[in-house]
Amino acid sequence: MVSTPLLEAAELISRERVAPGFWCLGFRSPEIARRARPAHYVAIDLPGTFSVRLPLGIWTARDDTFTLLFREWGERTTRLACIADHEPLSIIGPLGNEFSLPDTGKRAVIVAGGIGVVPFWLLVRELLAAKVRTTVVLGARSKHMLVGVDELRALGADVKICTDDGSAGTRATALDLARELAPPDVFYGCGPPPLLRALSEHANAAGIPCQISMEETFGCSMGTCWGCVVPIRRGSPQAVGYPHASDEKREYDFARVCVDGTVFWSREILWNR
Ligand SMILES: Cc1cc2nc3c(=O)[nH]c(=O)nc-3n(C[C@H](O)[C@H](O)[C@H](O)COP(=O)(O)OP(=O)(O)OC[C@H]3O[C@@H](n4cnc5c(N)ncnc54)[C@H](O)[C@@H]3O)c2cc1C
Ligand code: FES
Repeated sequence: MVSTPLLEAAELISRERVAPGFWCLGFRSPEIARRARPAHYVAIDLPGTFSVRLPLGIWTARDDTFTLLFREWGERTTRLACIADHEPLSIIGPLGNEFSLPDTGKRAVIVAGGIGVVPFWLLVRELLAAKVRTTVVLGARSKHMLVGVDELRALGADVKICTDDGSAGTRATALDLARELAPPDVFYGCGPPPLLRALSEHANAAGIPCQISMEETFGCSMGTCWGCVVPIRRGSPQAVGYPHASDEKREYDFARVCVDGTVFWSREILWNR
């Protein structure tokens, strides 16, 4: 379900460097925090020189506060890491749709790559509350880039970790490790596009439902610029906004990741287009 987003002045209340180049910032923002659902994100207007709003997933949410977990990539994330204590920020959210949950008693496997862990604190909390048996497989390039493990374990999740260089957990990719587990009733994924594509192909071939939270470069985050589209099965309910002529021969539509997603069923995405 897509919620109507709010515009709120959120106050920075905590800042923690959780790993080299990775930050967790806490905000007091009662309306957004209370409405946050798994896979929701916010769009942040940074003070200073103009830039388009920065989209970041909501990591944790409790009562009046939520946190963001992010990696310093470039200009906007560096500016966010440095904002002054108690600085109010103009934040729009919650944005995007949300993961759907399987029935009680089912088994879920979550596959996350690096900072792709972000949508899963809220999801794990929901899954465990719904008595869905949940395993998180979290992969990263090295131990210095593994974030979020303690917070997920604190929720009671079974978290398996792996790294490309073997510096923490099993030396494997997150998908290779997930493949070694008994096939679940549902997969969830978030992370780099090659991981999402491989997970989708694996789940589709095995006939296992799989929801992925996708990330594209966003412009407006509001559904108006069409800068974030992905090719999707023609006639998909998530492509209803795409304006196409009825006699077009094309076999696919486009969906906007920012408002039609970010969550899609893996079988809907046309990776070869
Ligand atoms: C819906 C959504 C949710 C997101 N949630 C999170 C989140 O929770 N945590 C988080 O850390 N990021 C998240 N991102 C990514 C984030 O919005 C920024 O795109 C990213 O952090 C870079 O921002 P920047 O302006 O600092 O860097 P830019 O100035 O845009 O880029 C700096 C450099 O980093 C490279 N770069 C930028 N983004 C990436 C990337 N994703 N992978 C590899 N290289 C990249 C660019 O090519 C460039 O060379 C999310 C993106 C979307 C669309
Ligand atoms: S970022 Fe503008 S339509 Fe999605």
